[in-house]
Amino acid sequence: MPLVTSEQMFRSAYAGGYAIGAFNVNNMEIIQGITEAAAEVRAPLILQVSAGARKYASHTYLMKLVEAALIETNLPICLHLDHGDSFELCRDCVDGGFTSVMIDGSHLAFEENIRLTKQVVDYAHSHGVVVEGELGRLAGVEDDINVSEADSSYTRPEEVEEFVGRTGVDSLAIAIGTSHGAYKFKPGTKPQLRFDILEEISRRLPGFPIVLHGASSVMQDYVRMINANGGAMPDAIGVPEEMLRQAAKMAVCKVNIDSDLRLVMTGTVRQYLKQHPDHFDPRQYLKPARENIKQMVIHKLVDVLGCDGKAD
Ligand code: G3H
Ligand code: 13P
Ligand code: ZN
Repeated sequence: MPLVTSEQMFRSAYAGGYAIGAFNVNNMEIIQGITEAAAEVRAPLILQVSAGARKYASHTYLMKLVEAALIETNLPICLHLDHGDSFELCRDCVDGGFTSVMIDGSHLAFEENIRLTKQVVDYAHSHGVVVEGELGRLAGVEDDINVSEADSSYTRPEEVEEFVGRTGVDSLAIAIGTSHGAYKFKPGTKPQLRFDILEEISRRLPGFPIVLHGASSVMQDYVRMINANGGAMPDAIGVPEEMLRQAAKMAVCKVNIDSDLRLVMTGTVRQYLKQHPDHFDPRQYLKPARENIKQMVIHKLVDVLGCDGKAD
């Protein structure tokens, strides 16, 4: 099966009250772990590549690895650019075979965000590629950009109709209190998301797919595994899975997960190397890391997002 866009996936997810998992990929083992999980539970899938991932692994390697996953799994897979920061980067990904791109103009003034997003939409749509835009600003770390809590801002519902109408985007990422990375909420506080904003946005944009970034739950088993095996992570708190379940039942059709993959991989590798200090074959420690990624992704797809069995 060739790569698909997210159009049909989102239509079915919205109607069915579930969400599609969008997982960040950087290398072969991560791609294999995620796609083997999705194949096992027959879930449609979005694999997303950040500018940093593209720099690390190269466009061609990632493209060919995803093509291999298509052959191995026969799943509907959408290949998406995560947080594109320029027209040129989005154009390169459209030209290079991606089926979806995000143009992240969330740090720009409203008019400037519209101008840049529309430029990307015009190009992408003329090539059969869909576009995700963003309004509102998440805190946290993306690539080398660190957005402080003070600079973050919730999406303003009164702006969404104009933004979607004038840009023609196919989906919209919003800020309701999640953030990127492993440190989302202050230790000792109760995580809270602004579901009232999500509700109001979906009232203004009926049937329109919403995207939730910064959606890792920061799985505590793996934080503990890292710290028990030589790591030193301070208290790391993510989005409770119950909140992701709630968002998936509402207008959220795409849920972005990267940090949980990083924690699983690092925790597993640290534990393996501590238990086997004399081993030095990378296959020995990457194999359990890939297997644990697979199990974590199955859990997200089945128990949290509810998209298992929706690939057929
Ligand atoms: O939102 C950011 C993603 O976690 C990607 O992270 O830019 O470090 O690859 P990255
Ligand atoms: P996390 O850092 O919560 O995994 O968020 C990933 C993300 O939003 C990628 O765009
Ligand atoms: Zn993001």
